[in-house]
Amino acid sequence: MKLSTLQLLLAAAAAAVPVQAAFSWKNVHTGGGGGFVPGIVFHPSAQGVAYARTDIGGLYRLNPDDDSWTAVTDSLATDEKWGSWGIDAVALDPQDPNKVYAAVGMYTNDWDPNNGTIIRSSDRGTTWSSTTLPFKIGGNMPGRGMGERLAVDPSNPRIILFGARSGHGLWRSTDGGATFSRVSSFTNTGTYIPDPNDTSGYNSDKQGLAFVTFDSTSSLTVDGATSRIFVGTADNTTASVYVSTDAGTTWSPVPNQPLRFFPHKCRLQPVEKALYLTYSDGTGPYDGTLGAVYRYDIASSTWKDITPVPSSELHFGFGGLGLDLQRPGTLVVASLNSWWPDAQLFRSTDSGETWSPIWEWTSYPDMNMYYGMYTDSAPWIGKGFVERDSKRLGWMIEALEIDPTDGERWMYGTGLTLFGGRDLGRWDENERNVSIRVMADGIEEMAVLGLASAPVSGGGSELLAAVGDVSGFTYRTEAELGTAPEKPWMDPMWASSTDVDYAGNKPASVVRIGNSAGSPQVALSSDGGGTWAVHPGAGTTQFGGSVAYSADGDIILWSPSNGGVVRSQSQGTFTAVSSLPSSGVVAIASDKRNNTVFYAGAGNGTVYRSTDSGSVFVSVSSGLTGVTSVRDIVAHPVVAGEVWVSTNAGLFRSVDYAATFTKISGLTDTQHISLGLGGDAGKWNVYALGRGASGAKLYASADDGRTWVDVQGGQGFGALSACRVVGSANVPGQVYVGTNGRGVFYAKGVVEGGGGTGTTLSTSTRSSTSMTSTTTVSVPTETDSYCEPETTTESSTVGLSTSSAKTSTTSSARTTSTSSARITSSSVGSTSTTSSAIATPTALAQRWGQCGGIGWTRPTVCVAPWTCKYSNDWYSQCL
Ligand SMILES: *[C@@H]1O[C@H](CO)[C@@H](O)[C@H](O)[C@H]1NC(C)=O
Ligand SMILES: *[C@@H]1O[C@H](CO)[C@@H](O)[C@H](O)[C@H]1NC(C)=O
Ligand SMILES: *[C@@H]1O[C@H](CO)[C@@H](O)[C@H](O)[C@H]1NC(C)=O
Ligand SMILES: *[C@@H]1O[C@H](CO)[C@@H](O)[C@H](O)[C@H]1NC(C)=O
Ligand SMILES: *[C@@H]1O[C@H](CO)[C@@H](O)[C@H](O)[C@H]1NC(C)=O
Ligand SMILES: *[C@@H]1O[C@H](CO)[C@@H](O)[C@H](O)[C@H]1NC(C)=O
Repeated sequence: MKLSTLQLLLAAAAAAVPVQAAFSWKNVHTGGGGGFVPGIVFHPSAQGVAYARTDIGGLYRLNPDDDSWTAVTDSLATDEKWGSWGIDAVALDPQDPNKVYAAVGMYTNDWDPNNGTIIRSSDRGTTWSSTTLPFKIGGNMPGRGMGERLAVDPSNPRIILFGARSGHGLWRSTDGGATFSRVSSFTNTGTYIPDPNDTSGYNSDKQGLAFVTFDSTSSLTVDGATSRIFVGTADNTTASVYVSTDAGTTWSPVPNQPLRFFPHKCRLQPVEKALYLTYSDGTGPYDGTLGAVYRYDIASSTWKDITPVPSSELHFGFGGLGLDLQRPGTLVVASLNSWWPDAQLFRSTDSGETWSPIWEWTSYPDMNMYYGMYTDSAPWIGKGFVERDSKRLGWMIEALEIDPTDGERWMYGTGLTLFGGRDLGRWDENERNVSIRVMADGIEEMAVLGLASAPVSGGGSELLAAVGDVSGFTYRTEAELGTAPEKPWMDPMWASSTDVDYAGNKPASVVRIGNSAGSPQVALSSDGGGTWAVHPGAGTTQFGGSVAYSADGDIILWSPSNGGVVRSQSQGTFTAVSSLPSSGVVAIASDKRNNTVFYAGAGNGTVYRSTDSGSVFVSVSSGLTGVTSVRDIVAHPVVAGEVWVSTNAGLFRSVDYAATFTKISGLTDTQHISLGLGGDAGKWNVYALGRGASGAKLYASADDGRTWVDVQGGQGFGALSACRVVGSANVPGQVYVGTNGRGVFYAKGVVEGGGGTGTTLSTSTRSSTSMTSTTTVSVPTETDSYCEPETTTESSTVGLSTSSAKTSTTSSARTTSTSSARITSSSVGSTSTTSSAIATPTALAQRWGQCGGIGWTRPTVCVAPWTCKYSNDWYSQCL
């Protein structure tokens, strides 16, 4: 079916709310990605046509002139189809550079409710059509860096092959992707399972097929189909590389192939008539302690082990593999994960006979680095990561490509960002020194866990964003939103921050919460979020969750993810708030003007109020009818006593400190909400993520909830229950939406009040503040993972997880599950990773993380159930 989703959505919105123009959304700019980029695909002949896929932040198209990227799948990621930001494979049509295909879906277990789709575009991703498959696709599942598992026959573009996960085998389209059917003759379904004991289904799914590689040098069959095709599977016991010589009718294992490892990448070098393959002993993306690189000569049917390092010296597997198609025999391969001291990249100009590394030891601990690293397009990558971690080159390197039309240009994805350069040939010169730059401008891939906007006039910051895996960011003014931050939240730096709040009467006072176990996880700023200090009263056991700062900035209420609500006064020790339930508190808030007032809400629907600065809470219920679950509580930014509560039954408003509530009509099943500066002086808009006349969308009201308009339009935000929203405290009509995987979007516009009492904006205001939406295209951005998941399991961060604390609703499967476990995706990895570990060593090393080795000063004990396994003198890992 045709997906002109955008048009359909716009039409629907227009029908429901004829007056409202949709806001024009773009990303708050970080410039550094922030998450895992598992795949990059270049068109083989059309210069500059390339795509990068992410596991939780969608697909991006390269803008070749400035090496920036444009997000092309945002319109697909509706609330119902949030998994559309998980891209498990991308393929281009070698005969038509305008055509692009992708395998879409986030999880193959029950976290993602939808079956997967193969989407196709004839205009480079501007519009899409889609075919739903009878099974799920796992863009954020283990093994997502293998591939590509989707490919278009170079000779007959109506033929497309897709290698599925979960035991579903190989699928073929013969009509350009409109329909697919199973190739029953391909019987090895890739049955390797990373962890059969994982009851969530995440690590216990069959990894399935790894890649599809057409041999363009082979003869054509009668319908113009390429006769020789190679397909890889996740199988390290029988055979993993299969070949067909009759265009896919029959298949057999390629003889004499290596076993023991899993193939990650398989690339054809047509002039050499050879395949190059990288192997690792896990399916990735966090693992790998051994591996290999092979060259398969198709004409002679011979395999050659061209691994750059003797097996005895390896402590990593291989992932990224880039061939220089202009210079046969020249290629670059990357370690998948070399957690210490850094990733390693090797280049060969003689088909793998000899290799040169991108760095090498001189006299330990000194090394020669045959590269310069430049982070000017995202300075925070330098300050927060490259300068603080021995792993400058990255980790989780599955994607590495050399531009087929220009051997100088290359790029590679990591768990943190996308790096690249335009002088790769200098590797081969005597001087041997390439320039590596952050090349992620436009990729925004972060899981946003908390947002705040504080009055700039009082020393506050326009936007404070707490994010998974890469700490968080402060944007002081509106003017900074388009500029990459100089640094992430640091000193202390925790991989993930779960919430942030400011003091209403002292907006320069900010508190944030980290998500790492084993060290204090509360930090304070008195300069609007520029510099920070650890809260001296925070213990070392609690982490995560949500936070509320009292109006005068002397009391902090904290609802950590691993325990009951606690309170600190004047930076004293946090003590338990015994009048609140010890579990199930999903929302807390402070009155922004009255220092004595706090609110709390429980997942079971009970709302609480404290009028003694958070010491004692009592439940309140007057007017809260039909509430069985609280999702969010928000106090008016400037009006004492006004508080809004978001619930399963929609919104409720109180103007008397929660003594009595009035039901707000128009929306149900609302999630996060916010108030932001409206168009007229003294007026505030209300923003709510929830279900209304246009379906599950972001709605705004300029008349205190009497009328609501859909301001989301055709922009996808993914799962609304996993989003955060905050209205600007400074810019009239500006609103921010933090997503679970695509960073922060923002837009500005006039909310058409429906003839409400005096809240409708004046004409003059309208014209001046209106959404003259300059930008049409949303600027892409994104994030994701890192390595050592810091906190809890890998999950927490990533996926939907986010929401958990606050959202926890029920609403759908999604929330639920999500939250905790799954998150993971990208983040997982990422999150924790580096940063946190570095800045604030936690007591325990995380799964896949390093836990020992010469020079290692960080935790040597792993989180349960993992144990620290010796790999070599330099490296032990939690496995
Ligand atoms: C996914 O496909 C399977 C097989 O056709 C079907 O049984 C299932 O109902 C589908 N799931 C959804 C959510 O459509
Ligand atoms: C799964 O659990 C069994 C029984 O506890 C254990 O013996 C086995 O090692 C576990 N497997 C993995 C991969 O953790
Ligand atoms: C396959 O790989 C897994 C994961 O590395 C490993 O535990 C297993 O021993 C391997 N099997 C063979 C036959 O090498
Ligand atoms: C390569 O260039 C970078 C940046 O100028 C420099 O830091 C590095 O030391 C150089 N490497 C060598 C081996 O000279
Ligand atoms: C919610 O849980 C709290 C604490 O257990 C309890 O006091 C309250 O009665 C519950 N409310 C509802 C509506 O069940
Ligand atoms: C602050 O709130 C308390 C509790 O509702 C109220 O008694 C007090 O009058 C309020 N203070 C001000 C200055 O409004």
